[in-house]
Amino acid sequence: MPGVSLVGSGSARLSVALSNDALSQRVDTSDDWIASRTGIRQRHVAAPTDSLTSLAAEAARNALAMAQVSAGEVDLILLATSTPDDLFGSACQVQAALGATRAVAFDLTAACSGFVFALVTAAQYLRTGVYKNVVVIGADVLSRWTDWSDRTTCVLFGDGAGAVVLRAAERDRLLGFELCSDGSLNHCLNLAYQSDPAVLVGDIAVQEGTFAPITMNGREVYKFAVSRVPEVIEKALFRASLTTADISWMVLHQANQRILDAVADRLGVPLDRVVSNMARHGNTSAASIPIALDEAVRANKIQPGDVIATAGFGAGLTWGAAILEWQ
Ligand code: COA
Repeated sequence: MPGVSLVGSGSARLSVALSNDALSQRVDTSDDWIASRTGIRQRHVAAPTDSLTSLAAEAARNALAMAQVSAGEVDLILLATSTPDDLFGSACQVQAALGATRAVAFDLTAACSGFVFALVTAAQYLRTGVYKNVVVIGADVLSRWTDWSDRTTCVLFGDGAGAVVLRAAERDRLLGFELCSDGSLNHCLNLAYQSDPAVLVGDIAVQEGTFAPITMNGREVYKFAVSRVPEVIEKALFRASLTTADISWMVLHQANQRILDAVADRLGVPLDRVVSNMARHGNTSAASIPIALDEAVRANKIQPGDVIATAGFGAGLTWGAAILEWQ
């Protein structure tokens, strides 16, 4: 059976940084509160001239350049996002922006687990031998859906885009994975459609609502993450016939430094093996893992042959882990 190799990573550079101090001019908060509870010092926000598509395409271009794969060679583009420019999907616009004319492209929504879910989905197409080159993008502009008057949520999130290129290979570098969902906990984290019924004609009514900003039960999400993430990583390691001692790097969804520390502690992974860029980016949802991965690769931290344990978790609720070998 053909396998999967990760051959490139990339991310988009957002020019607008929003510091904790700047945010505290808008809501009753402080750099000290945000940094001590979350590890976040600043986040980036998309400029009014940016689009989800433009950020995703920039990340994909950089990943393709590292992989030395041309846009014309791409068979599939998977865009993990919860914040498309178009509810019908933005992946096709990314395909057009890249000039990846041969590629089929579609969106996949699994909130902050989206990148891991998309990576595993992409791997199935490669393992069956259907496709040779796949671009997986995680991109979100949660600033569009943040309630900037709610200090319990607006301090956490940022915008961003990251991508990887996967290629069919003889040896499979997706060593193991485990994906999970629990819709009974859906109410803990939402960006939900709010129905506003309107009479269309006679006794027929339709909905003329819109999506309401993000709502979250922070404590419940925190408890969920620190219990489920170590568990799902252990299951993925088991499928890979590996143990925590084999992990070179943990590249987890960057939600909260305290969550990263707790997961590392439970698994007995030293903190210097845990990639963290939260201080600079905040929680960029589906983009956080590929951005963290790309930064660690470009800083020469992650080297060919390193075993990476990655895990996403978030709305749905969804969570999942993948154990990968870099290149
Ligand atoms: N600045 C200052 N004070 C704030 C604040 C802010 N930005 N946000 C909340 N507070 C206040 C609260 O109003 C509360 O005040 P009170 O005691 O007077 O009622 C106090 O701080 C403690 O709030 P609490 O919600 O208990 O804080 P916490 O220690 O649970 O931390 C989170 C809040 C959101 C940082 C934490 O729950 C968390 O990180 N959860 C996970 C969220 C997450 O990662 N979500 C995305 C997953 S993909």
